Amino acid sequence: MPTTNEHADALAALNRSQTLSSKLQAIHDQVRILFSFVDRIAVATYDPATDCVKTFIHSSGDKNPLSNYQARLSEAKSLADTVRSGKPRVINDLAVFATDQKEHSKRIAAEKYASSYTLPMFNNEVFFGFVFFNSYEKNVFTESCLAQLDVFGHLIASLVLHELTLIKTLLSTIKTARDMTHERDPETGAHLDRMSRYARLIARTLASKYGFTDEYIEHVFLFAPLHDIGKIGVPDRILFKNGKLDAHEFEEMKTHAIKGRQIIDMLLSNYGLDGVQSTELLRNIAQYHHEDFDGSGYPEGLSGEAIPIEARIIAVADVFDALTSARPYKSAWTNDEAFEALERLSGNKLDPTCVRALIDNRVIVEQIQSRFNEPDE
Ligand code: C2E
Ligand code: SIN
Ligand code: SIN
Ligand code: FE
Ligand code: FE
Repeated sequence: MPTTNEHADALAALNRSQTLSSKLQAIHDQVRILFSFVDRIAVATYDPATDCVKTFIHSSGDKNPLSNYQARLSEAKSLADTVRSGKPRVINDLAVFATDQKEHSKRIAAEKYASSYTLPMFNNEVFFGFVFFNSYEKNVFTESCLAQLDVFGHLIASLVLHELTLIKTLLSTIKTARDMTHERDPETGAHLDRMSRYARLIARTLASKYGFTDEYIEHVFLFAPLHDIGKIGVPDRILFKNGKLDAHEFEEMKTHAIKGRQIIDMLLSNYGLDGVQSTELLRNIAQYHHEDFDGSGYPEGLSGEAIPIEARIIAVADVFDALTSARPYKSAWTNDEAFEALERLSGNKLDPTCVRALIDNRVIVEQIQSRFNEPDE
């Protein structure tokens, strides 16, 4: 007689709509049942454009020695070796790094991790990041343990790849939509490059104050270029008007916030991504980036904390870049003028914490400007 057994899916959490960080936590919980000495699992992603490896998600409770951390791959020799060879790295006694003066080694050592297993992630032979397993105990990553950790490592790699691919697909779809609807887009590529980096800089600066994770900060950066997607739905005679908008035209212009939200909702629904958690941030950016801190903005007139923090961040990045750029209706302001304007707008139009975060990082702002300057300015 066949009998049936009750079994609770150990990784049922992966079926739910939640952030990648929560999914990683669920996998870590399961790994711990098998290997109680695995104290931390982290994923760092690689950006070939800047040669940077950055912590993206981790599960190590409140303690994360490498939060908001980034390094150049070419300067981390032992990690670069794993990429070149395609082979994972086992370090059974991290004391070998004790004399290393590199920031990441110092931070790992300060947390007292004693051993680590590092699996490079590849998609069709293209390297895109690392999965790290860390333990407070020495000599725990034995061959039989590693054979099982590899399965979890590749599961994590697939989840990360899936999310990165999803975001890339969304961004290219939206870029295609823009290219098709406007011959000449008023939001130039350089504007979007700069303002998304200002937004990331603000988010990173405010990370400890608001408890932002690396995943959140990266999403702010990735979704920032879509804040004005609703301008697709604004007629060209208004969008490209060579001068000040009259009151009626401005009312029409203001609809871009709601239109942006609708376009994104439609897109997410067409792709079957309605439930994906991280996209809430994208919806908020499109809909609320023109809400003012004092409640005098649009479309809803929200104020203060009622405005999602990602929208308050984008507002500062967007206004600063709009002021320092030439537009069909205005010439570019100097940084001094723009920073003074931000000071004036702080507390009424803009969130003071976000304004401060940008102003305090003037050196980095200027680096971003020189790296992404308009070719024709
Ligand atoms: P945008 O050019 O991306 O500007 C974003 C925001 O930056 C503006 O939101 C506004 O808060 C700020 N901003 C931009 N330029 C100036 C400026 O010269 N002075 C001040 N004080 N703030 C500035 P806002 O006002 O809600 O406008 C939304 C969008 O409407 C703008 O996006 C732009 O595409 C369009 N727009 C606004 N005013 C005009 C205009 O007079 N002529 C034209 N052709 N378009 C305009
Ligand atoms: C990490 O564990 O997050 C990176 C440090 C390293 O193992 O090189
Ligand atoms: C940043 O600090 O987030 C931006 C730096 C850059 O991308 O140039
Ligand atoms: Fe806008
Ligand atoms: Fe903009």
